[in-house]
Amino acid sequence: MFALITGASSGIGRAMAFELAKKNYSLILVARRESELKQIKAKIEESNKVEVIIKVMDVSSVKNCEKLHEETQTYQPEIIINNAGFGQVGRFDEIDLGIELKMIETNIIAVHTLTKLFVRSMKKGIILNVASIAGMLPTPLMASYSASKAYVLNFSRAINCELRKSRSPIKVLTLNPGPVVTEFGKVANTKQKMQGMSADKCAKIAIRDMLAGKKVIVPGVMMKITRFFLKLLPVSWIMPFAYRIQNRK
Ligand SMILES: NC(=O)c1ccc[n+]([C@@H]2O[C@H](COP(=O)([O-])OP(=O)(O)OC[C@H]3O[C@@H](n4cnc5c(N)ncnc54)[C@H](OP(=O)(O)O)[C@@H]3O)[C@@H](O)[C@H]2O)c1
Repeated sequence: MFALITGASSGIGRAMAFELAKKNYSLILVARRESELKQIKAKIEESNKVEVIIKVMDVSSVKNCEKLHEETQTYQPEIIINNAGFGQVGRFDEIDLGIELKMIETNIIAVHTLTKLFVRSMKKGIILNVASIAGMLPTPLMASYSASKAYVLNFSRAINCELRKSRSPIKVLTLNPGPVVTEFGKVANTKQKMQGMSADKCAKIAIRDMLAGKKVIVPGVMMKITRFFLKLLPVSWIMPFAYRIQNRK
């Protein structure tokens, strides 16, 4: 059985690849950095009896998403993990528009396109879309990023509801991590060193809960408590706290 993971060259995507290989899934790993993907392929194939196919690709283009879907049809993947994504910390009036548009293409348009293509072509299986706890709150100083993840979360939940109503054998689930130590902080231009859960722990929880069919996966007790308060308290109360946290970065 094949699982496809975008953004598999580092961080959470890489860790989920190792986790799925342990569960005997063959893998299609997608990212832009070929050398990282080759190293991961070698490491996984060395210690697991699975096949690893690498696709060096920038998913921020719709054409590439279509190509990826087309090229992977022969493997009939039963798990699709739309994980490729990045953030950018800063004031909205200062962040470069080009970076934000690239973020929208990667975090929203690629996830949207691949979900559409695979929902239509899969016979059964799971699509796991990686959102964020930041998608549950308008987050000052990460405005576009948190909005992009809110899109992923709400769109995936709504599609999953439609699929349940039509008794589809396909599920669309979401992973919503809090801070995880990956290359995210460096890419997001944060000054503070990333602190949080390890990518391995996040991936372990993500794969366990995904295979159990959990619709909204929130790894870790702290983030579950955070989610509870995000549901309970008015957004206007919480946003100033979020501003303070982001401002430190
Ligand atoms: N770390 C956190 O605190 C955190 C919290 C909540 C949610 N998330 C989400 O988790 C996901 C994974 O992030 P991470 O924390 O693991 O960060 P990461 O270590 O920077 O990994 C991001 C991955 O996405 C790939 N990627 C980025 N843009 C791409 C593109 N245009 N085409 C193909 N691949 C692309 C990168 O590979 P290449 O550079 O090789 O292309 C890399 O493999 C993201 O969606 C992120 O928003 C992270």
